[in-house]
Amino acid sequence: MSVGIDDMAIYVPKLYIDSKDFAKARGIDPHKLENGIGMKQMAIVDTNQDPACMAANACLTLMQKNDLKPKDIGRMYVATESALDESKAMNSFVIGMLEQIYGEGSFEHAGGIECKFACVSGSYALYDNANWIRAEENNGHAAIVIVSDIAKYDLGSAGEYTQGAGAIAMLVKENPRLVVFDPKVTSTIIKNEYDFYRPFGRETPLVNGNYSNYLYLIQVKKAFDSYKEKVLKTGLIRINNDESITDKIDYFSVHIPYRKMGEKALAYLLRHEWRHLKRWKQIIEEVGFEEPIAKDPRGTIESILADEDFMKSDEKFRRAFIKTSFFKQVFEQKMLSSLEASAIIGNLYTASMYMGLRSLLEFEYKKNIDLTNKRIGFGSYGSGSSAMVFSGVIQEEYKEIVKDMDLGSEIGNRTKLDMTEYKRLHSNELKINESFSDHKKEFVLVKIGGNTADKAGKRDYLFCN
Ligand code: COA
Repeated sequence: MSVGIDDMAIYVPKLYIDSKDFAKARGIDPHKLENGIGMKQMAIVDTNQDPACMAANACLTLMQKNDLKPKDIGRMYVATESALDESKAMNSFVIGMLEQIYGEGSFEHAGGIECKFACVSGSYALYDNANWIRAEENNGHAAIVIVSDIAKYDLGSAGEYTQGAGAIAMLVKENPRLVVFDPKVTSTIIKNEYDFYRPFGRETPLVNGNYSNYLYLIQVKKAFDSYKEKVLKTGLIRINNDESITDKIDYFSVHIPYRKMGEKALAYLLRHEWRHLKRWKQIIEEVGFEEPIAKDPRGTIESILADEDFMKSDEKFRRAFIKTSFFKQVFEQKMLSSLEASAIIGNLYTASMYMGLRSLLEFEYKKNIDLTNKRIGFGSYGSGSSAMVFSGVIQEEYKEIVKDMDLGSEIGNRTKLDMTEYKRLHSNELKINESFSDHKKEFVLVKIGGNTADKAGKRDYLFCN
């Protein structure tokens, strides 16, 4: 049975800050943000927005554009690391909002949960729902998986220029029009880590940025090794001597906390996959020096990071490697289009990789490339930490969906915040009703809490006509 993503809809908040304003205010070279990080604009939520209403807005768009009724949906999962409640799941808020449109109790027959594992949980949600359909537990229903997050870091921190916000709703069903997931090859890895976490009560995470970068690379590579074993064993991908399975994957869509990280992840993976192949000799010639080798043969992240000489020379090698014609060709053909959206929206945590997929489909289609039967390899990472590697194949009907994808018009007109406005928003100085932009045809938050203690934390939403 083929199962996968049939369609997807996005919601991006209408406020943003510009990298040049940000660089000036923080005394950072603007080239660092645009080239070193890959950030031009970061989407910011308004006073009356939260991850639940962004999720509901993306879901409503998905349902309306596919003429779906609640009776067509058997499960609705929301994956997020911006939880609003320790107990009440975010999908229940979303159902409440959608019932303002579709009628009270209209989703009662369905099920679902909120999923959490930093940025990787959306991938687990998709996998679980695909398997629910493969197991024929769905009784003819489709599933909707929504990924929604607000990436918010402390003012003045290094994470502050990797913020963003947005949601994506994905329709998961049999015989999907967009992407069919390859069965029996999904691979995961999990380990207790403290690279990035947000203890109870904190609005912003505690993050060891550099450590999280390397952990991401290492964990995805480990999951990829297990994926590789499975694809070769099942015969999904066949390779000849002197080939890597990366040669047989047409596109790469990976977790994108910031645009530049996609490029780093690809470079890390290709170095690992290519260093035993014949082409490596020519690559080294182009680089001009040998790839450094860590002193500690265990190659654990702790031992590598503690080896400062190795880290410095390895960074130097990576910078030279990404300039080689070998890397550039793969990067430009197989990844670049997936990174376009990240530069103007920023980090979306759970939604980052799926915004990358959206971006890949739209911008490759606009190049007039035929995407039918092209295989996408996904590298999903969540701090804490877990990685999931899986793949899927683009279906012939993709054009029906992708022809209407247009990031610019779907995001719509945005309002640029100045740095004073941004700071007031970031510091939660403004009331819910002091919003910066008009909200038409979307759900907004109108009230938190009630007049009595038993209503504390209760959230009320309204659809603005
Ligand atoms: N012009 C161009 N590039 C410049 C520059 C300049 N003037 N100054 C610095 N850069 C480059 C650096 O060389 C580096 O690029 P490289 O990695 O290709 O060498 C890049 O900008 C980042 O600078 P760096 O100083 O290394 O990092 P940072 O202290 O700014 O922190 C993060 C970057 C991502 C670690 C930080 O933003 C963070 O903690 N983010 C949140 C956590 C996160 O996103 N983790 C990802 C894994 S989940």
